[in-house]
Amino acid sequence: MKISIFGMGYVGVVSVACLLRDGHEIVGIDPVQAKIADLAQGRSPVQEPGVAPLLAAGQRAGRLQVTTDPQDSLAGSALVWICVGTPCDLDGAIKLAAVQTVVRQIGRALRGSATRPLLVLRSTCLPGTTKEQVIPLLERESGLTVGRDLDVVFHPEFLREGSGVEDFLHPPRIVVGEDRPGAAERLMELYRGTNAPVFRLSLGEAEMVKYWDNVFHALKITFANEMGAVARSAGLDARKVAEVFCADTRLNISPKYLRPGPAFGGSCLSKDLRALARLAALRSLRLPMLEKVLESNEVQIESMVRRILAYRPATVGMVGLAFKTHTDDMRESPYVRIAKALIGEGVALRIYDPVVQPARLIGSNKEQVQKALRHLEELLVGSLDELAAADLILVNHGTVDAQRVLAWTGAGIRVLDAAGIEDVPASTPGYEGLYW
Ligand SMILES: NC(=O)c1ccc[n+]([C@@H]2O[C@H](COP(=O)([O-])OP(=O)(O)OC[C@H]3O[C@@H](n4cnc5c(N)ncnc54)[C@H](O)[C@@H]3O)[C@@H](O)[C@H]2O)c1
Repeated sequence: MKISIFGMGYVGVVSVACLLRDGHEIVGIDPVQAKIADLAQGRSPVQEPGVAPLLAAGQRAGRLQVTTDPQDSLAGSALVWICVGTPCDLDGAIKLAAVQTVVRQIGRALRGSATRPLLVLRSTCLPGTTKEQVIPLLERESGLTVGRDLDVVFHPEFLREGSGVEDFLHPPRIVVGEDRPGAAERLMELYRGTNAPVFRLSLGEAEMVKYWDNVFHALKITFANEMGAVARSAGLDARKVAEVFCADTRLNISPKYLRPGPAFGGSCLSKDLRALARLAALRSLRLPMLEKVLESNEVQIESMVRRILAYRPATVGMVGLAFKTHTDDMRESPYVRIAKALIGEGVALRIYDPVVQPARLIGSNKEQVQKALRHLEELLVGSLDELAAADLILVNHGTVDAQRVLAWTGAGIRVLDAAGIEDVPASTPGYEGLYW
């Protein structure tokens, strides 16, 4: 396949080398003459293990063409990859100038040309960029209509410098966002022999995946370092504790607790975070991330309350009061906090949680809930049917099914679903998922 690649940086050059290895014909475009001169000799302008021999072999085979001139670089290309930089100012403002320049150049080159390549954006861009900026600019410059004359896909790259070739050739997964279903078909041909799961998403979802990954990586490193500082202050070898942490692949190194949903609660997480933060403060350790975790959790609770109150409901029904399903433990339950806030705002509240039985509550659980909700008995109802008079129902526990939720929305009751009830279409009128 003939592929034109804009941007001969780390991503672009690794891509060129690996695609040459797979037998493709490549045109590499970059305005930096020195990079083009290196590539023209079959030399890599970046240091990356494994790139040099692949580039040299591809160049010897006559399948590598490089240029600083974008105008003639697209003729006959099936794919056009954009791998230019998208740097960011210290204040977070992303610079899209290189992407815009390249899209303009591509648009102009396509005007009056018979070539209709699939445009593949690989540069990391904030969600919405491809749809709201790249596509309109391309349409303006080319006079073509995306989705009809040609397609644009966003295809995030996950390679790591230092192991770029290995990562490119053996990706853990292939992610592509499409301007219309099926748009990425030609791109998928490149991955025929690759044994990795493929995820075909909307443009925005694919853009978001890249940030989800990178922010998580940053978060993991910061977490390990802040915990390491606490361990060291206690005279411990943090590496040993981290090994044991990583040995739990059921709860720790796993998809557990990684899905968006309601705030955390319960008797352990909040108190242990507070205790660790205090220990760190006493030892003059600065742990900005760990110190902010509880604050962030508070924000989640406050935002749920605000979202409910925005509908000005006179009556709210709640499914679930304990901090999670199948327990009557209400200590530090976010739902107790939400209930208290709603009552404080004059909302009439009805709560269904069959596991919570006021007469059987005991110890700190009883004390805490009584302090927050003095008339708990009067708030609790014995059946879901008794929530049907509410203006809005907040679903905290996954103890109701889609049929029930749809019956409520069908009857004109707004449902805010924090539990992610399966099989309820997100577009259902009157239904609102917490983050979906
Ligand atoms: N470096 C990584 O490990 C990595 C991994 C995944 C994704 N990404 C993302 O991929 C993109 C590229 O990253 P990189 O590290 O390869 O950047 P880089 O800075 O190494 O390379 C960018 C290249 O684009 C070229 N360029 C600028 N304007 C151009 C134009 N008008 N036409 C053609 N080329 C032009 C520059 O000369 C440079 O060679 C970024 O969005 C980055 O966030 C990077």
